[in-house]
Amino acid sequence: MSLLSVRHLLGLEGLPAEDIQLILDTAENLKGILSRPIPKVPTLRGITVVNLFFENSTRTRISFELAEKRLSADTVNFSVAGSSVKKGETLKDTVRNIEAMKIDMVVVRHSSAGVPYFLTQCTDAVIINAGDGRHEHPTQALLDMMTLREKWGTLKGKKVAIIGDIRHSRVAGSNIRGLLTMGAEVMVCGPRTLIPPGIEELGVQVTYRLDEAIAWADALNVLRIQLERQEKGLFPSIREYHAEYGITRKRIERAKKEIIIMHPGPINRGIELDSDVADSDASIILDQVTNGVAVRMAVLVLLSGFDAAHES
Ligand code: CP
Repeated sequence: MSLLSVRHLLGLEGLPAEDIQLILDTAENLKGILSRPIPKVPTLRGITVVNLFFENSTRTRISFELAEKRLSADTVNFSVAGSSVKKGETLKDTVRNIEAMKIDMVVVRHSSAGVPYFLTQCTDAVIINAGDGRHEHPTQALLDMMTLREKWGTLKGKKVAIIGDIRHSRVAGSNIRGLLTMGAEVMVCGPRTLIPPGIEELGVQVTYRLDEAIAWADALNVLRIQLERQEKGLFPSIREYHAEYGITRKRIERAKKEIIIMHPGPINRGIELDSDVADSDASIILDQVTNGVAVRMAVLVLLSGFDAAHES
């Protein structure tokens, strides 16, 4: 029985602040386990989790698997290459066959928006969205919020600018929803072709000028230019994108204030973010990755209905 108001984690749209708060507090509690000599607790012993990845992933996939192992769950990894999907088996048949082997939870990443929701209609297992098309990537936004909250103590009233390819980004979709729910202010910035028309209706500010976003923000969440999702001609060239929207040391120094640099990874170094900024003291990119394990542990524990207050 889930300890959240939802049975599945499909996205942050409509997820109440109390749920987000509980996930972040639980993740903070569980994070201590990761630096113990033996970083393992028995909380999810007897629970079987299938990681169903139809798209490439490094961070999300490894951190879900680590989170499951740290909690003593049994884990099974599925990837399309080497599976019967290659022989034409449908998504529904794939999941129903896996479910017939008695599993409890499915973590799913897919290139189509809505696949996690679809799976809730064909299996009794708990579904966790690990990124669906351009729609949502809720655990990424939760780990981003956890990392900012660690820095600031609160998200309320803080200003986060999301820079780059907003149009193709599920990271932007989930961050906008989560940050606004938690009382932060959000600005999006990028070329007009990469910002969906009407996005202001979500409650965000929009600018097409990077220097304006840098002057406004307490933190920049710099998105990857998704060359694999992009139709041709959305910006003239990579060189021009870097000139207009690339985060460089010179631009950051011009703001004359402390500004936090985030990136969900993988980074296109020298395109959306220069290496000397990505690797600077202002960067919390690797803290985001560390917190990814704790956040995913929290989501697994809370959706399984275990009281994690006893695990710290
Ligand atoms: N941030 C993120 O989703 O990275 P991966 O694609 O490597 O999982």
